[in-house]
Amino acid sequence: MKSQAATAGSNGAGASVKAAENGNRGRRPLRAGVVGVGRMGRHHARVYSQLSETQLVGVVDTNPERAEALAEQYNCKALHSVQQLLDMGVDVVSVAVPTSYHLPMAEPLLKAGVNCLIEKPLAGDAAEAEKIKHAAEATGAILMVGHIERFNPIMRALKKEQEKGMPIVPRFMEVHRVSPMTFRSVDTSVVMDMMIHDLDVVLMLMGGHEPDEVYASGVPVITEHEDICNARLVFRKPEGVCVANVTASRLALKTERVTRITGENAYVKIDYAAKSGTIIRRLANEQQMIDVRNALRQGADLSNMNWHELVNIEELQVDEGEPIVMEIKAFLDAVMSGTKPEVDARAGLANVRTAERIIAAARAERGGKGV
Ligand SMILES: NC(=O)c1ccc[n+]([C@@H]2O[C@H](COP(=O)([O-])OP(=O)(O)OC[C@H]3O[C@@H](n4cnc5c(N)ncnc54)[C@H](O)[C@@H]3O)[C@@H](O)[C@H]2O)c1
Repeated sequence: MKSQAATAGSNGAGASVKAAENGNRGRRPLRAGVVGVGRMGRHHARVYSQLSETQLVGVVDTNPERAEALAEQYNCKALHSVQQLLDMGVDVVSVAVPTSYHLPMAEPLLKAGVNCLIEKPLAGDAAEAEKIKHAAEATGAILMVGHIERFNPIMRALKKEQEKGMPIVPRFMEVHRVSPMTFRSVDTSVVMDMMIHDLDVVLMLMGGHEPDEVYASGVPVITEHEDICNARLVFRKPEGVCVANVTASRLALKTERVTRITGENAYVKIDYAAKSGTIIRRLANEQQMIDVRNALRQGADLSNMNWHELVNIEELQVDEGEPIVMEIKAFLDAVMSGTKPEVDARAGLANVRTAERIIAAARAERGGKGV
């Protein structure tokens, strides 16, 4: 992969290129920009303006009042085109326009060698996601996709557990992401808008493998697309089969983002919204299970036994740290070290492709019918 030094030099940000080459130690900050400063983009702008590694130089938005308000708040330039941002010289840019504009906004940046953090999903369909991936590969620009749940404190806690020597070997996963209708992103399926967060985590847990089989059932209720959908994803791997049962709804009366993973060696529950999680390890419960199994074999009546007291439940140790800050720092680390970002284009494309397969399966299931 071409280093950030070579890439950013193509649009005139030479001084900050040096910073990238040297891991940014004691050098000028990376010149940063944001394209689309709506609900998500404004957070990217805030973080770039706060981090010592970056200097926010400009924000682009087709809504001039919005761009100007953000530019005034963060002391940078309000711009109306990507070309203006390129002319200023930038090293890193977040693309946070509506998904249908990801390709036209990101392509010129990547072709100019500018490193991009593109909000999730990478694109509205796999064909566009491939084009974005190719544009990055052509220049060697770093491309990361903003699948923010990877940076949720609870996912970070799970990753730490795994690094401590508890690799999860999932056998089945039960995933729920439901919320009331916000009337945002109604031009796309709940699969591409909400379920994609979980697809990213499921595929990551499956080592980046895409499902071998996809079954889905979805219902458009008030939009033209699935507002509620359930997918059953089957992964056939050499170490065994894993089934992920994933549900997303934007019609619920409550908000819930919960994943339950049952593995060979552990059961893990992740509650993204509550930022809490528990692990029940097989090893920590081995003796109790042997005792119970033996007692049952001998015909003992265990109906008075308290299951909760029998099982060792461990809380995942969660650290502080705002997910968007952690996400942007991971992107900058990849840029400064020239290494593969945590959520790369391949992962972003696999997520979009899986979402498309789910949508196609759900449509086929209802005979290709919309609302
Ligand atoms: N990571 C997450 O949790 C998360 C959450 C919500 C949205 N998103 C993603 O972030 C992206 C933006 O979503 P949002 O909710 O912030 O949208 P939004 O509508 O609130 O903001 C989009 C902004 O882009 C501007 N814009 C539109 N077209 C443009 C163009 N061609 N050039 C420049 N500016 C343009 C709009 O004026 C608006 O200010 C989408 O891809 C969405 O899927 C991610």
